[in-house]
Amino acid sequence: MIFKSYQILYKVLAKSAYVNIALNSGLKSVNEKDKKVITRIVYGVIEKNLFLEYIIKQLTKKYPHISDAVILKIGIYQIYFMNEPEYAVVNNMLKLAKKLKRSPSFINAVLRRCKDVKMPQDDYQKKSLEYNAPVWAIKELEKDYGRQTADLFFSHPKKQLIHIRHNPKKITSQDFEKYLDFERDKKTEYGYYVCHNTLKKLNNIDNSLFTVQSLGSMAVCMAADVQDGDKVLDVCAAPGGKSVFLSQLAKISLISCDIHPHRLELINSYKSRMGENNIEVILNDATKFIPQWERRFDVVLCDVPCSGLGVLNSRSDIFEHKTLDIINELTKLQYEIISTSSKYVRQGGRLIYSTCTILKKENQDIVNKFLRNNPDFESAPVNIAVNSLNIGNYVQLMPHISDTDGFFIAKVQRK
Ligand SMILES: C[S@@+](CC[C@H](N)C(=O)[O-])C[C@H]1O[C@@H](n2cnc3c(N)ncnc32)[C@H](O)[C@@H]1O
Repeated sequence: MIFKSYQILYKVLAKSAYVNIALNSGLKSVNEKDKKVITRIVYGVIEKNLFLEYIIKQLTKKYPHISDAVILKIGIYQIYFMNEPEYAVVNNMLKLAKKLKRSPSFINAVLRRCKDVKMPQDDYQKKSLEYNAPVWAIKELEKDYGRQTADLFFSHPKKQLIHIRHNPKKITSQDFEKYLDFERDKKTEYGYYVCHNTLKKLNNIDNSLFTVQSLGSMAVCMAADVQDGDKVLDVCAAPGGKSVFLSQLAKISLISCDIHPHRLELINSYKSRMGENNIEVILNDATKFIPQWERRFDVVLCDVPCSGLGVLNSRSDIFEHKTLDIINELTKLQYEIISTSSKYVRQGGRLIYSTCTILKKENQDIVNKFLRNNPDFESAPVNIAVNSLNIGNYVQLMPHISDTDGFFIAKVQRK
């Protein structure tokens, strides 16, 4: 069990694997009881990673070899947050160190002193450990929204329920609700939050009748307000969540693109699972202009690659992959994508720009710059049923306000 936890965490912390993917593949042959413990250790370590790093750094002169760091993180996590007796944890970690041919005496020395470490005095350092977010991210959010909102955002509890929706082309909401247990599940503006038990039961029914999709992701599609006959282009479409929902909302013709061939496969398998076989899937780089598409579309969706800070609640490993430098580079790509894609919008047509982040530099700053440089476009109101922060015509979903991840949605229209 501990070895399995180590293997999964090593993939995430040393090889930059995504935690949900590493966990899913790592747990395939594990029994239910062990699965629970391993999942708790893996997510626990990732959710407390900065705290665990801090303890290790206080007790070592030079940052340890990555294998030692992973062993130590598991041990320190169990001692601090799982109420495991210290001697038992240390014994298990020494066995693990031996198995991995690492030095048990080093592991022993650090674990024995881990409870004696003094916590930092600086406010930002303290928050960083508490929220498991780097100081730069806390400061960035405070700059954008003020201290109170930043604190509310970072301290918002993790969601235990999963958001799903029914497939309106295959089943009515009334019939679908017969599968739900409203003692624990709840209806939302566009779908349902369901518990793991309900999801388990639903896995036995026809899998084209429903799908997991976040409320925020659905809100982006609702904002597009697609109508029968619309020609729609989704320029950053993989794995296809928004494309498939759009094509279930009205009788539209839809082209879905992505830059990565392997991600096009995800769109293809999702669209066939959901029975949306009319979606045309094309490999395309959204920063390269395609003259044949110029002013041809009623709706263009730019659901651009972003830092993902808005989904911190469900993806606690975000900061393993995103640094401020990476985010600054992303803003250039985001601007290129909206600029190029806007050329495909017909007169009177609209472009939806969306992200799953809450950083202004990836959101309103990009759209404002686009509008300044393209006077033939104007911003238009985003009409959605989900509560949000309204920033002029744009909306920012926030976990503590919207009961979903931090999505940003803007609509611009060609005059
Ligand atoms: C936020 S995800 C899209 C999620 C998708 N809209 C959905 O709802 O399932 C961003 C996507 O943009 C793609 N991407 C990144 N750079 C791109 C580019 N230059 N052109 C087209 N797609 C790109 C990524 O491969 C990724 O699949």
